[in-house]
Amino acid sequence: MTTNKSVFLEDAIEWTHVKAYRSALLRFDENGAPDYEADGLLVIGKKAGLEHALSPYLIIQAGSYQALKPLFLDIPIEHLSGQLIAPGFIDLHIHYPQTDIIGSPAAGLLPWLENYTFPAESRFADESHASETANFFLSEMLRNGVTTALTFATSHPSSVNAIFKQAQQKGLRWIAGKVLQDRHSPDGVRDETEQSLIDTETLIQQWHEQDRLGYAITPRFAPTSTEAQLKGAGFLAGKYQNVWIQTHVAENLDEIKWVRELFPNSRSYLETYQDFGLMRKRSVFAHCIHFDLQDRLLMKETGAAAAVCPTSNLFLGSGFFDFEKSLAVGFELGLASDVGGGTSFSPFHTMMAAYYVGREGHTKNGLSLSPSQLWYLHTAGAAKALDIADQVGNLRPGQEADFIILNPSKKPILERRISKANSFEEVLFAYIVLADDRVIDQTFIAGA
Ligand code: GUN
Ligand code: ZN
Repeated sequence: MTTNKSVFLEDAIEWTHVKAYRSALLRFDENGAPDYEADGLLVIGKKAGLEHALSPYLIIQAGSYQALKPLFLDIPIEHLSGQLIAPGFIDLHIHYPQTDIIGSPAAGLLPWLENYTFPAESRFADESHASETANFFLSEMLRNGVTTALTFATSHPSSVNAIFKQAQQKGLRWIAGKVLQDRHSPDGVRDETEQSLIDTETLIQQWHEQDRLGYAITPRFAPTSTEAQLKGAGFLAGKYQNVWIQTHVAENLDEIKWVRELFPNSRSYLETYQDFGLMRKRSVFAHCIHFDLQDRLLMKETGAAAAVCPTSNLFLGSGFFDFEKSLAVGFELGLASDVGGGTSFSPFHTMMAAYYVGREGHTKNGLSLSPSQLWYLHTAGAAKALDIADQVGNLRPGQEADFIILNPSKKPILERRISKANSFEEVLFAYIVLADDRVIDQTFIAGA
C-alpha cells in the first residue's frame, strides 16, 4: 500500500510514495545500544523530485507507533501483528564462488583450499557459470535476510562482472572484488602480477560507486601474492581511498608459520599487510584469530575492521576469535559467514556460533555476548565496520530502506518460545537460537 499524497515533516523535506508498517521494531542508537519497540512504526518513502522508478525508498521515521501515528494520519499502515522488523543483515566476509563447496570437510585450511576451493574457483573463468552461480548466491542471501555483503569473487575479472551485474539488477548495496593471487596457486586460478593490477584498476573504474555497488581490492592472503603484487595492491589502495580492501589474516597456525617464512621482515602476519600499505579505514580482515596485543592495537590505530567468521573457524578447526581482548581494545568488528568455509548462509546460525565462541572464551568463565550485541555485530555494527553506517544497517531516518520482516509463526517452537519471553533480549535470543531462513518472511531492498 502506498499513497501519492505528499508528507511534510518538521525538516520540511517533502516525501512521496509513503508506506508504513506497524510491528515490533529492532534498531540501534549511535552507541550500538538496542532500541526495541514492542509496538513500532516504520515509515518509508521517496524524496519528492527524486521519485523515479529506480530511486531508493528511504526511511522517513521509525519508532513507537503511538508517538508517530499523529504525524502520519493519512498514510495507509500495514499491520504485521506478531512480527518483527529489523535492519537487513550485513555479511562482512563471504565467497560467492564457494557456494557449491559449502560443507566440504578437510584436515584444515590449506588442504581445504587445495582440494576443494581452487578447483571450484577455476570454473569461474566461464562467465556463464559465474552468472548462474551469482544469481543463485544472491537469491540465497536475500532469502536469508542478508542485504549487503563484502564478497570475494575469484581471480577472473568475469567473476566480478557476473556478481556486480546481478547485484545491480537487484538494486543491492554490494561490495566485491577480483582475487589477487600470483603465486603458490595452481593453474586455473593463478593470475599474472602486472595484468592482475591492471584488471583491478579497470574494475574499480567500471564498477565502484555505480548505483549502490562498491569495489574491494582483494589479495587472497599474503602467501599467494608476491611482494610485487602486494605492493601494487597497496599503491591502488592509496590511490583509491574510497574503495575497500579485503583479505584473510591469522586464521590457521600452519598458514601463519608459512607467512612468517615468506615475509621474515614483518613483525607479525598482520603487519605484513601494514608494511604493504593495506591497513586503513575500509580494510576488512577475515578471521583475526591468532593475534597479539600489538596486532589488536594496530587494528584500532589504522581503523581496519575484523570480519569474525565463527562457523568457518569451528568447521575448519582454525581456532576461536577472542571477543574479550578485541572488544577491550575496541577495534571495529562484525560477523561474517565465510561461506564456503563457513557452514551456513543464515545470520542466525552465524550469531549462534559467535555466541558459542564467546562462551568457549579465553578466560575462565567465558563471555556471554548479549543477543542484541550479536545482532548489532551483524547489522549496524557491521555497517560501521564497513564505513557505510550512514546508508544501511539500521532503521534511522535518512537511511536506505533495506530491512527484513521476520515472522515467528513460520516455526512453531520459535513462536511458542517468544510467547513466553519476559524481555526483548529473550525475544532476540529465541530468534538467534531457533530461527532460520523460513522465518525471513520478506526482504526489502531500498524499500522494494
Ligand atoms: N585463506 C585464503 N583463502 C581462503 C578462503 O578461500 N577461505 C578461507 N576461509 N581462508 C582463506
Ligand atoms: Zn574467506
